[in-house]
Amino acid sequence: MKSAKTEEDLVAIRRHLHAHPELSLCEEETARFIEERLMDFGIDDVERIADTGVIAIVDGAEDGPTRAYRADIDALPIEEKSDVDYASKNPGVMHACGHDVHTTIGLGIARAVHRRRNELSGRIKFIFQPAEEASPEDEPVGAERLVQEGVLKSPDVEAIFALHCMPSLEVGKIGYTGGPVWASSELMEIEVEGKKAHGAYPHEGIDAVAVAAQIVVALQQVVSRTIDARQSCVVSVGCVEAGNSYNIIAERASMTGILRGLSQQAMERARQSIEQIVTHVARGFGATARVRFTPGARLVENDPSLESEAIQVIADRLGDTVVTPHLPQLGAEDFSAFSRRIAGCYLFLGIRNEARGITHALHTPQFDVDEDCIGIGVAAMTEVLIGV
Ligand code: NI
Repeated sequence: MKSAKTEEDLVAIRRHLHAHPELSLCEEETARFIEERLMDFGIDDVERIADTGVIAIVDGAEDGPTRAYRADIDALPIEEKSDVDYASKNPGVMHACGHDVHTTIGLGIARAVHRRRNELSGRIKFIFQPAEEASPEDEPVGAERLVQEGVLKSPDVEAIFALHCMPSLEVGKIGYTGGPVWASSELMEIEVEGKKAHGAYPHEGIDAVAVAAQIVVALQQVVSRTIDARQSCVVSVGCVEAGNSYNIIAERASMTGILRGLSQQAMERARQSIEQIVTHVARGFGATARVRFTPGARLVENDPSLESEAIQVIADRLGDTVVTPHLPQLGAEDFSAFSRRIAGCYLFLGIRNEARGITHALHTPQFDVDEDCIGIGVAAMTEVLIGV
């Protein structure tokens, strides 16, 4: 009965978080809520980091390594379209990436590990991380800021684990990739400079709109014709801005987009190809253009032995059918700030339930999860943290 009650509590926690989402760097109430729940569970080694981050440490009975479990806690600027009674109460803000579920699972694991601390050697540091969704900035945010503030130090953290809700994976399953997990991501900004003229006399100007259009078309060949087909990479232009009058040839055009890839080699090759296209297509029409890349999250890749140990523990304790291979994602995750410094293991959590219509993608207004995923996530990662 205790475990049914425990799961019920966690569902209530998830629904509270879901109804009260907060954007990156504004997770004040969320952080307070996390602190209160940790205290309720009897965990008193709790502190703040990076303003709205929370760290909790559970010490085991025996000496041993320090390992970490990371849950991201921030929401997205999306208006929820749902009639569930736990829908967002904050207009325009929504937990559309499942970070409410991640936070709940982090709390559930902390409670379970604390209860079973006699079986634990070493200690587990639970990291409730703000600002995972924040865009690349000059100042470090999210995971990178936590690292700079010493989250992996004193004592040194040897390995770190995380889960992410995965709408393509059936509830009841835990997915692993056996290689790259999330893509390396860069912001791409393109500026085209032409020459203004009246629309009736285009020969007197250089049309930045026409040049930008050619660049967008040419960029479609970066992946199809310069990247090894066995490597995954994507180039997408999401925003084009130019001109200010219907009858004037635009002098400037600016475009922003993303470059993402699952290997450094592909990223490097794509960057070169984009630079060539942008510069030379523009030059071909007498315009000038340049591209600037701003690195965002880097490639998330699992430590192979940590991943296989974790998968083995989950299969042993929860059953062979729970773990399943899954394709890596071209989405990006700032977990790379941890996993490129220490051994990391990032697994996917099945949340899909077609019979109940729970199939919507991450970052969409209809996103939801089958809440049975919470108990499975907690059980799987508790066994991993105690057993690996
Ligand atoms: Ni996410």
